[in-house]
Amino acid sequence: MTGDGPAEGAGRDDRRAADLPPGVDLGRPSIARVYDYFLGGKEHFEIDRMAVAAAYEVIPELSRLAHDNRNHLRRAIRFLVADAGVRQFLDLGSGLPTVGNVHDIARNVDPAVRVVYVDNDPLVLAHGRALLSDDTTTLVLLADVRDTEAIFDGPEIRGFVDFDKPFAVIATSILHQFDDHEAYAVADRIKARLTLGSYVVISNFLDDDEPRANAADRAFLAGGLGTGRFRRWSEQREFFEGLEMVEPGFVYANDWRPDEYTPTDSPVHTLYAAGVARKPV
Ligand SMILES: C[S@@+](CC[C@H](N)C(=O)[O-])C[C@H]1O[C@@H](n2cnc3c(N)ncnc32)[C@H](O)[C@@H]1O
Repeated sequence: MTGDGPAEGAGRDDRRAADLPPGVDLGRPSIARVYDYFLGGKEHFEIDRMAVAAAYEVIPELSRLAHDNRNHLRRAIRFLVADAGVRQFLDLGSGLPTVGNVHDIARNVDPAVRVVYVDNDPLVLAHGRALLSDDTTTLVLLADVRDTEAIFDGPEIRGFVDFDKPFAVIATSILHQFDDHEAYAVADRIKARLTLGSYVVISNFLDDDEPRANAADRAFLAGGLGTGRFRRWSEQREFFEGLEMVEPGFVYANDWRPDEYTPTDSPVHTLYAAGVARKPV
């Protein structure tokens, strides 16, 4: 996947509630389903699309945010597998396994890479398990990213990831869903769990002193999706404190090691920041 353009598609509104996996609540919008909508998937419903209607008024090219983010993630994974030698990934707040999945990207470089997907949306669990049921190098867990203890100390993951060896935690487009207190606490707990030489990938909505950031922040909140915090550079750099930044540092997402698929004309270029960092050995 290149993830280089918007492609919102039709959803699955004709599906009966009884046909949905257990726990899926169509009475409330879901971030995982909205994100799938942005990326051109089919796992979304009217309530999800309505939740972002106000945000679309602020940023008509809203879905480009998701594409730019996914595009950065693709480049970061390729770097981590091909250049940094990482063979184990924990994808926290992974989203629906529809477009450009971490294991697909990683396996293009090395088929032996292991990936743990963690999300608290039951639709992610259902799709992930259906898609990856025969796959012995992926694990899909239903868990709250804030509960780092349950994730890192769970028996399933302990039998799957070798925490004595370097691994990478992917925390892309997840910290902006938490208020400040929670976001820094989660980042700290993740960093505390990193083995020396392990990596973290972080991306977030960015408030780079332009009115769209604040307006979109408010529109997400009003849509009932919870927090979608656009944070300033200085606020976000704190997430990486104590770690060693990989070049080129914490930058606009499209400026992180761009390749031939990276958009050069993104209308939301200044609204997303991303970086990769390593726990020094
Ligand atoms: C915007 S998507 C990001 C997907 C992916 N990380 C990426 O960057 O492309 C955010 C995902 O985080 C999940 N999520 C939100 N809050 C969560 C929490 N507290 N625990 C686990 N997952 C969460 C949502 O269900 C959704 O699938």
